[in-house]
Amino acid sequence: ILRARSCVDWRGKQVVITAGGTREPIDPVRFIANRSSGKMGFAMAAAAREAGAEVTLICGPNGLPAPAGVHRVDVETAVEMQSAVAAVERMDVFIGAAAVADYRVQTPAEHKLKKSAEFDSLTLTLVKNPDIISEVARRVPKPFVVGFAAETENLQTYAEQKRRAKGMDVICANAVGEGLAFDQPDNALSVIWSGGVHHFERAEKTQLSAHLIELIDKIMSRE
Ligand code: CTP
Ligand code: CA
Repeated sequence: ILRARSCVDWRGKQVVITAGGTREPIDPVRFIANRSSGKMGFAMAAAAREAGAEVTLICGPNGLPAPAGVHRVDVETAVEMQSAVAAVERMDVFIGAAAVADYRVQTPAEHKLKKSAEFDSLTLTLVKNPDIISEVARRVPKPFVVGFAAETENLQTYAEQKRRAKGMDVICANAVGEGLAFDQPDNALSVIWSGGVHHFERAEKTQLSAHLIELIDKIMSRE
């Protein structure tokens, strides 16, 4: 069967994509994580590659195979993800699909924490992680910046606020909750940019990604 090739031509473009959730260590055997599967970011990487781009996929731990022809960089923590992104010299398009932990444990224990015989509670001090996409949006020259936002309420309002606050060109917002988006093979998205909104009905992430790359390409060429 002949596969329909992308109708977008991104040959010569450097595309950097973050994917998956980060892991923030508590001690050598424990970490704080989230439900992100990495599927959306990996599908975006495949679609960008299909369009001919040079793709760097910077991802948190997950069992997914990297799409063919994509340069994969594995990281664990948000700080490692930030360094891996900072190490990329040239980027034309940045797609932040990762669910980056907002906080990390201030001082992870060097040795495995032992259960206390005395206390019935344990308090961890968390500190804020760097905001990777905001840093990318402050780069000179500025790449075209696409972010994702998972919300459980006020989807469009929260997403548009985030887009502006972080200097993103486009934000792809999805509703999360029971059986939605996280760790699912499909997703529905509202894509918001300064010139409008486009809604994508629930579809397979692989299919959705191809359409999303087309839309991003259209928005980029209008700007
Ligand atoms: N993001 C990032 N670095 C962070 C946090 C988020 O690059 N430390 C990126 C995500 O990859 C995503 C976008 O920012 O593309 C929005 O993430 P989200 O978690 O929705 O935004 P937050 O500003 O962290 O807001 P919230 O309080 O709703 O989590
Ligand atoms: Ca967050």
